[in-house]
Amino acid sequence: MFNQTSNGIKTCSIHKLDYEEMVSKLAGREFLSLCPECTKEQSERDAVEAKLRLEKQFQEQRRQSKENQINRLLSGSLIPPRYLTRTFANYRADSEGQQRALKAIESYAEDFTTHEKSGAGIVMAGKPGTGKTHLACALANDLIFRLQKNPVFIPASKMIRKIRETYRRDSEHTEQQMINLFRDADLLIIDEVGIQRGTEAEEHLLFEIINERNAYFNPTILISNLNAADIKTYIGERAMDRMREGGGKFVSFDWDSYRGNVAKDTDLPIRDKRES
Ligand SMILES: Nc1ncnc2c1ncn2[C@@H]1O[C@H](COP(=O)(O)OP(=O)(O)O)[C@@H](O)[C@H]1O
Ligand SMILES: [Mg+2]
Repeated sequence: MFNQTSNGIKTCSIHKLDYEEMVSKLAGREFLSLCPECTKEQSERDAVEAKLRLEKQFQEQRRQSKENQINRLLSGSLIPPRYLTRTFANYRADSEGQQRALKAIESYAEDFTTHEKSGAGIVMAGKPGTGKTHLACALANDLIFRLQKNPVFIPASKMIRKIRETYRRDSEHTEQQMINLFRDADLLIIDEVGIQRGTEAEEHLLFEIINERNAYFNPTILISNLNAADIKTYIGERAMDRMREGGGKFVSFDWDSYRGNVAKDTDLPIRDKRES
């Protein structure tokens, strides 16, 4: 029940204005009216507050949708759980080789917007346990968190298997759909290239993916335990040439395995950005 009565003429102590003070009763409480100037100032303050509240709400929505997008990108990236925690910051670069490798991959990340126009990729080659997968996943994580790009990380054999699975009669996807998925990722990281010799058809599929990506200027990273000459033999000269187009880099990892040290930092913290 709402009713209003007059309290008579009052003078505003702030604006020195005479005005009729009205008393409103609402839900058992009394509210006194203000002078016209005070009323105006109050409604201006209310408007500013409402705008701030709205702005904060928008900010929160933007933060939420960015977080959702990052989570979608992370699960779509196929980065193995162990490597979700791998960053440039937690890669130890004690030797000159490690420093060179870290710098090469980190600067590739920094210049990614240029590389995604030229399609320039990287071949990371060298001994097992030297941090090739670590740095490649650090790169993928960085692109997701910083630029909301969609990198895809996949071992070569798994990529081929995923394509071959589409040949089954009950497959949900066609071969072309699966190839397009690998073709269209902002960055495709193919790990463990040449770990076991594939059939000619399998090698052809690998070449086809590299070729398709090259045609669309989409950069590819190849990781292998083979040396440069053997990688070339494995993927073929033409695919290797494709990798070099657009100014691709070759980074070699020729120091001893780090695996013996990993027990110390298996619980590397997930980077702060993920929480923000
Ligand atoms: N320089 C390094 N600093 C920190 N961790 C490293 C380093 N090199 C390798 N590791 C860790 O050692 C393990 C093996 O490295 P990984 O990247 O899988 O090697 P590769 O792919 O070259 O065989 C991973 O847990 C990785 O995070
Ligand atoms: Mg590896």
